[in-house]
Amino acid sequence: MEFSVQPSGTPVDAEVRAGVLADPAFGRVFTDHMVSIRWSAQQGWHDAALLPYGPLQVDPANVVLHYAQEVFEGLKAYRQPDGGVALFRPDLNAARMVRSCTRLALPVLPVEDFLAACELLVRTDAAWVPDGEGASLYLRPFVFADEVGLGVRPSESARFLVIASPAGNYFSGPLRPVSLWLSQDYTRAAPGGMGAAKTGGNYAASLVAQQEAIAHGCDQVVFLDAVEKRWVEELGGMNMFFVLDDGTIVTPELTGTILEGVTRDSVITLAREAGHAVEERRFDVDEWRKGAVDGRVVEVFACGTAAVITPVGALRWPGGEAVAGDGQPGPVTTKLRTALLDLQYGRAADTHGWVRKVL
Ligand SMILES: Cc1ncc(COP(=O)(O)O)c(C=O)c1O
Repeated sequence: MEFSVQPSGTPVDAEVRAGVLADPAFGRVFTDHMVSIRWSAQQGWHDAALLPYGPLQVDPANVVLHYAQEVFEGLKAYRQPDGGVALFRPDLNAARMVRSCTRLALPVLPVEDFLAACELLVRTDAAWVPDGEGASLYLRPFVFADEVGLGVRPSESARFLVIASPAGNYFSGPLRPVSLWLSQDYTRAAPGGMGAAKTGGNYAASLVAQQEAIAHGCDQVVFLDAVEKRWVEELGGMNMFFVLDDGTIVTPELTGTILEGVTRDSVITLAREAGHAVEERRFDVDEWRKGAVDGRVVEVFACGTAAVITPVGALRWPGGEAVAGDGQPGPVTTKLRTALLDLQYGRAADTHGWVRKVL
């Protein structure tokens, strides 16, 4: 695919950019450019372009505003020790977007075009990739229906965009365990639904539960399965892992209601290489609660692109609390986090072919 290039006439001043990069927070400031590719049923994918970052014109009857036919991805570009920039396993994001688009009846962008679009944006806006531990350039590729009309049917036109935003640590401040609220009333996804797709509706569904978590003094919400309300699924934006006292690591199996995380897959591989048995199976919330008391569950952590690996402290529910181990970041959590960060920041040899150098 050939991309036309229209450079921004008003790039952000280098001094202003340096100020942003010194304390980027998450998802608030965007780089100078974006990549756009249009799709129509007649023409297929066309009009691939690098454009100045800016607002879109949206018709009020655009179907995405009404029926939420959209998907997105999230991946990061990391500054390397030689000053270059690398993406971490972007092929898995591209492949997941294919699956998400298929579930949402959206057109499928070929993997190589997804990768070319991400690389073009990173190369163009490389000055926006921050230095420093935990910092990165977060890429947000997304596809949305953009046909005008209120008929409920797959859109005849769509648009793929990639935007980028410098990111610091997702949870600000030093690494600290997060507390989780066990949602009693809300579930995230049901069998046959969209749980395995990265689509906005799943996140919209999680917001009221997240509000409840905050109201109960917790950082995040953990969802149980929608049928038996018993099996641990995932957080609003992260997969979960449990470390048992014999070193075995358990993570909820992929049932179609859980998002298949790139970080989850990487953690499973790294944990096995470090000698841990890793079980992908259903994990009963009572196994967690009891294990925290009798010492069977020694560490709990969550993982995802945004926050890498985050230790979990307390699990809370109405009238109760369970804390695995001493509630502090455990040795296995810390070891895996370091191993992953070392790969992403190019400090460890890339023996898996996970690191895709862009510059
Ligand atoms: C619901 C959900 N689960 C898990 C993850 C972790 O996925 P990844 O490791 O690919 O970022 C994310 C983040 O993208 C997510 O939104």
